[in-house]
Amino acid sequence: MEPSHETKRQIMITSALPYASGSLHLGHFVEHTQSDIWARLLRARGHEVKFLCADDAHGTPIMLNAEKQGMTPEAMVDGIREEHWRDLQAFGVSYDHYHSTHSPENQQLVSEIYLKLKAAGHIESKVVEQYYDPEKGMFLPDRFVKGTCPKCGTEDQYSDGCESCGSTYDATEIINPKSVVSGATPVMKASKHLFVNLKNFESMLKEWAASGSLQDEVNNKLAEWFEAGLQAWDISRDAPYFGFEIPEEDGKYFYVWMDAPVGYLACLKHVCDQLGEDFAPWIDPDTSHEMYHFIGKDILYFHSLFWPAMLYGAGMKLPNAVYVHGFLTVNGTKMSKSRGTFIKASTYLQHLNPDYLRYYFAAKLSDNLVDIDLNMDDFRQRVNSDLVGKVVNIASRCAGFIKKKFDATLAAELHNPALYTEFVSHSAGIAELFEGRKYNAAIRQIMALADKANQYIADMAPWVAVKDEAKHTEVHQVCSTGINLFRVLMTWLAPVIPFTARKAEAFLNSDLNQWHAIEQPLLDHQIEKFKPLIGRIEAETLETIIEQSKQDLAAAAESKPAVSGPLADDPISAEINFDAFAQVDLRVALIADAQHVDGADKLLQLTLDLGGETRNVFAGIKSAYQPEDLIGKHTVMVANLAPRKMRFGLSEGMVLAAGPGGKDLFILEPDQGAQPGMRVK
Ligand code: 2FM
Ligand code: ZN
Repeated sequence: MEPSHETKRQIMITSALPYASGSLHLGHFVEHTQSDIWARLLRARGHEVKFLCADDAHGTPIMLNAEKQGMTPEAMVDGIREEHWRDLQAFGVSYDHYHSTHSPENQQLVSEIYLKLKAAGHIESKVVEQYYDPEKGMFLPDRFVKGTCPKCGTEDQYSDGCESCGSTYDATEIINPKSVVSGATPVMKASKHLFVNLKNFESMLKEWAASGSLQDEVNNKLAEWFEAGLQAWDISRDAPYFGFEIPEEDGKYFYVWMDAPVGYLACLKHVCDQLGEDFAPWIDPDTSHEMYHFIGKDILYFHSLFWPAMLYGAGMKLPNAVYVHGFLTVNGTKMSKSRGTFIKASTYLQHLNPDYLRYYFAAKLSDNLVDIDLNMDDFRQRVNSDLVGKVVNIASRCAGFIKKKFDATLAAELHNPALYTEFVSHSAGIAELFEGRKYNAAIRQIMALADKANQYIADMAPWVAVKDEAKHTEVHQVCSTGINLFRVLMTWLAPVIPFTARKAEAFLNSDLNQWHAIEQPLLDHQIEKFKPLIGRIEAETLETIIEQSKQDLAAAAESKPAVSGPLADDPISAEINFDAFAQVDLRVALIADAQHVDGADKLLQLTLDLGGETRNVFAGIKSAYQPEDLIGKHTVMVANLAPRKMRFGLSEGMVLAAGPGGKDLFILEPDQGAQPGMRVK
């Protein structure tokens, strides 16, 4: 049996920070599940864990996206952060805190790190020539310039490479370049940029990589990069840019990838400040505190070269390891909007228990970079057979007898203590597999033991023995053994399926979050009535998720008009079914007040009277209406839209307007006889 008392470790664990744009989808949850299982395991093993994440809020795409929506970037990223955190919690991802890189802690830390790098001579400046949109007055990242491929002549290609012939080229080579932002022809313009001289860190990075804690595939990749030679890293961007201004510079901003990983530390600092704990030991290279980052293979360069260089240059602790995983495929191919396999987390959650997917990912995840495939049929069969058919079955076969015949109390002795001891003897090995991120191997072992427990119960057949009065003690002890084996299995599975574990805890009257607690069986212990902990997945449910995902995302898919006219410019969105439509509660509202909003280009603040209830709504109709012209009018609003936090306040609904935009935007005005609050049909 493993020793009960390991030295308590201080462990910081992070997942990559999702961009504050768009919803989280199942692809994100491979990583959040992988890191959450790890964090929960280490907590259950008695260690101090700080499990952290945040939204990655900065950069040009987010700035332009907010502008498109008539919002400030601050308001937009606040709203998205809330949505992300809601989905993560609903999936059982147990971050100690979910922060934002647009936070005071992050600004302070990134500035501090930069100034230390600068003082140590690691920052250099160079003049860079780049495409500039003269209409929009901004520099354009490569992805914001499109034109004709200089190699094969295909139109509408990004300026950094052609999707048709696969060539990469210098942005200046593209033919007939156009700004994606305004459509204008960009010009080349020079500007000073700041760079981190990565070469200065080469020997340190090589030593760090050789320290043994990186995966083999990662080391191979690093070797290639060292071989190719490390390039200085451009960390500045010119205004306009949504980010933090660089200290001691004029109108220069930190590139989003400079402050993004610092967001890990900013989140930790926030947590420490909230708890009144000391942040310093976590970044002090001389402490034994540990730092681990879980990431996808696409962002390895940033985490294995730039990030350790920044930390080292600022005199901070280096990560103990960067753990890299593969991507998610669904039914064997890339997630696809048209096939309905690009599934938003919130869509999944409307239909299925998060534990199913957590379990399935765990059963497939290992410590390598291989992609994980979510095969819908396999998913259903595996969850039904393993969780429902094997694990929960053990409890359901034994619980009834304990409740009915033995006053809901487990026996004072087990029928098969040797079997129990054998189970517990696997505990250290299973912990090791989990800690080594070989979750698939851990799950295989747990399921093999679940089979063994079921076999034991089948062999003992308490449902037969119970008919013989003389065998009641045996039945009591057999079922108590079964329940105890179930407890062991559920303790091991608790980091993977936390929602089911909480229900099992209620049934067992026992905490399943203590890895070592299973060293002692539950004897002479009262349990509760057994309720089915988890149901089967039905094939129809998966079909519904796929169908709904097609509808969710078709509306957002890009489509190009074939003919001109209002419908071609703004194609009708994907069909919704009648039930979805019927849920939209349209009401007549009296515009009781309308005001300009300080700092908002497109919004007016409306006070809407619904006849007994007033709502505050921010509407993007400033280009078409003067506030004073609106007061006293009736309009139509969506009254049951979830309130949305915006930078200027809470918006509690939406008014309906039509038109191409600008001055040509018309709020809907119902007939004279309409009364506030009246339902619109
Ligand atoms: O690739 C991404 O989604 C980035 N937002 C990840 C950032 S991770 C960290 F460095 F902040
Ligand atoms: Zn081409």
